[in-house]
Amino acid sequence: MRDPAERAAIARIEREEWEHRAIVLSCSSVWMLSRSAYATLDAHRRVAVAGACFVIGRFLAMYFAGRLESSNIGEYVDGAMSAQRLERFADERTFERLARVEAEHERFFRNAVRGTRRCR
Ligand SMILES: [Fe+2]
Repeated sequence: MRDPAERAAIARIEREEWEHRAIVLSCSSVWMLSRSAYATLDAHRRVAVAGACFVIGRFLAMYFAGRLESSNIGEYVDGAMSAQRLERFADERTFERLARVEAEHERFFRNAVRGTRRCR
């Protein structure tokens, strides 16, 4: 990835993902177990997509990263709804905030895909 601004943006997104993982894992209640399992899975998927860059090329790597971000949004929205049902309103607000950040990540990768020529 030659563009320094793009590299910096992806480094920021990766930092935010690890922060999200720590936030999800810090919620130490039973109902969060599914979330923590997800957080661990997600972290591994990211490493896999990052590594695939060198194999599948920039377009597909950005495309799959964008798809991952879409699934993150859904996970955090589910988490917020679960927290609301359990009247865990602080957790609800936390998940809503994480979902908004994931939407920014998705927008970044969607724009990166739009700007990419398919054939390399
Ligand atoms: Fe993300």
